[in-house]
Formats: sequence, C-alpha cells, structure tokens
Amino acid sequence: MQKATALAHPNLAFLKYWGKRDSKLNIPLNNSISMNLGGVYTQTTVEFDNALAEDEVLVVGQGAEAKFDRRVSKHLDRIRSLAQVSTRARVKTQNSFPAGTGFASSASGFAALTLAAAAALNLNLDERQLSILARQGSGSACRSIPDGFVEWIAGETSEDSFARQLATPDHWDIVDVAVAVSQEQKKVSSSEGHELALNSPFWDVRAGLLPSKYERMRHAILERNLVTFGQELETEAMMMHSIMMTSAHHDNTSWYSGIYYWLPDTLELIMAVQTWRADGLEVYFTLDAGPTVHLICLESNKSMVAEAVRRLATQHDRLNWVITENHPAPGARLVDG
Ligand code: DP6
Repeated sequence: MQKATALAHPNLAFLKYWGKRDSKLNIPLNNSISMNLGGVYTQTTVEFDNALAEDEVLVVGQGAEAKFDRRVSKHLDRIRSLAQVSTRARVKTQNSFPAGTGFASSASGFAALTLAAAAALNLNLDERQLSILARQGSGSACRSIPDGFVEWIAGETSEDSFARQLATPDHWDIVDVAVAVSQEQKKVSSSEGHELALNSPFWDVRAGLLPSKYERMRHAILERNLVTFGQELETEAMMMHSIMMTSAHHDNTSWYSGIYYWLPDTLELIMAVQTWRADGLEVYFTLDAGPTVHLICLESNKSMVAEAVRRLATQHDRLNWVITENHPAPGARLVDG
C-alpha cells in the first residue's frame, strides 16, 4: 500500500499535560488522562509517491500554514526513517470543525497523520508504538490513538512514554458540552506555554499533588463516580491555569507576569457553573489552553446544561458562542479514502 486514510478525534484532557521533561521528544513531566471527543474529528490521507520532490500538504478548508507544513514533514521523516524509505508524500487533511470552535487540531491531526502514514508504508505498529510516534508530532496526539478514556504514562524515555486505554467509550455516559466563547487565535501556543511551566513558583506544589490526584481521578472514572471526578476535574483545571498565570516571562518586546488564556466570558461561564450546581444541576467544567469552557455532565443532563448555556448567552447577548456536544469516542482508525 502506498496510500491510506485515517480518522482521529481530538481529546479533552481531564488531568493535564503542561510542562515537558524533554521538549524534543515531547516527554511530559506527569501522567495525564483524557477522553476522545466524538463530535469532532480530523481525516487525513497520506499518499507516498516517488514522483514527488517535496512533501505536499493540503489543509482542506483553510490556507495551509507554512509552520504546520514543516511540522508535518518532520513527522513524516520519523515514519519514513522507521520504514527506511525516503519517498515524499502528498498529505490531505480536513477538520470537521472550523478554526475558532475551540478544539486544538494538533492532537487529532497528528494522530490521524501517524496512522495513515504508517499504514501507507505497511509498517506493522501496535497501539503503543503508534502512540509513541504520534506523541513526537504533538504530545497530546498520543492520547487520540487508543479508544475512549485514555491515560498517558509519562515515562522517562521515548519508549516508555505512551498512551493506553483506561476505559472503553461506552464505559460511562458522560458528555462534554463545549462552549467556544471566541473565534480568535490564541497568542501563546501550547508548545510555547509548556516551556514556561517551570517558571511558575507553584510548579513544585503542583508536582507534589499530581501523583495522588492521578490515582483519585483514574479511580473516579473506573467507578463512574461523577462527584469525585468532577471535583478533581475542576481543581485540576484551576491548578493548571494557576501555573499558566504565574509563569512570568519575557519576549522581544515586553515582560509578562504569566499566560492568560481566559476571556471575560470564560469567567462568566465558570461562575455560572457554580450557580447551576448549587441549584441542583450536576455539571463540572474544565479548560485547556484557551478560553473554551468544557462542561462535563451525565448524558441525562445534557439538554438542561445546553439550555442553561443558551439562556446565559441570550441574557448577555453573546451571539458568537459556539456550542458542541461530544460523547466518548473511539481512537484513531483507518477509513476509506
Ligand atoms: C493544555 O499537545 O498541544 O491541551 O506537545 O507542544 O504539541 P505539544 O503540546 P500540546 O499540549 C496540550 C496542552 C493542553 C493539556 C493537555 O492536552 O493535556
């Protein structure tokens, strides 16, 4: 086979990857936990062709960014070197979600690219090997390889830093009601942010708390305990954002006391969640490196949560909020091109 197509979902981190032990290999400082998001996906076709002098990358629906092209080519080099070939490839990738809907395409993008390229080159890789490879494209991409609820074992070397399934997609009927409150590109990328995590004076506190938090969250998922899970989820999001907001740094023009991914609407939603919960609606939030608020609830409460968000948007005249619903989903898989 010289050509293959793969589909992968982005994943939402419940326990976060923020800070790297090795930034070249994307080896994280801690274990993390996530869920694949069923409402959105990336589909990627890779075709190796001896007639090509360079890799060609086509991002359907968006102008291809030179930076993305380079990352794709570099990733293909890793896969080519495993297969011991130098053939260039034509890559076509398409996101089901438009830019600005609050989903990072790098996790689903590098997971789909890894699987499609490995299949096109007839590499016989197991799930662990695929996740190790995807991780080198973008860290969080390793968690989009296995199905459902996933844990990424941090490890210390490339070979022992991989993602594995924690539970199948149908293990727990929770839903992510994602509310994107802005369509603007964030100013500090995740990759840049990771490098600043250790600048926070609170990093050591976080490092000390993470091992027991990981165990509690893992068990809460396995036992489908929404109360414990929700409390761990929210405190984890706030702890990561505390690290971000206290990661002081310089760039060429200025000094910054930290990275602020929130917008005023983000805080509006965080406060609303506390009110809704106090009023008896069981819903918890988490946030990644952006202003989008992910609301986690049971499937049976999904409509009420979405309705509460719509009411809030109407009250505040927020016509630009984009709401999507995501159920736990399978991992990366091959599909017809
Ligand atoms: C906040 O995987 O995008 O979403 O490895 O540099 O590509 P790179 O970073 P990336 O970081 C994701 C950060 C996060 C938390 C998480 O997904 O665990």
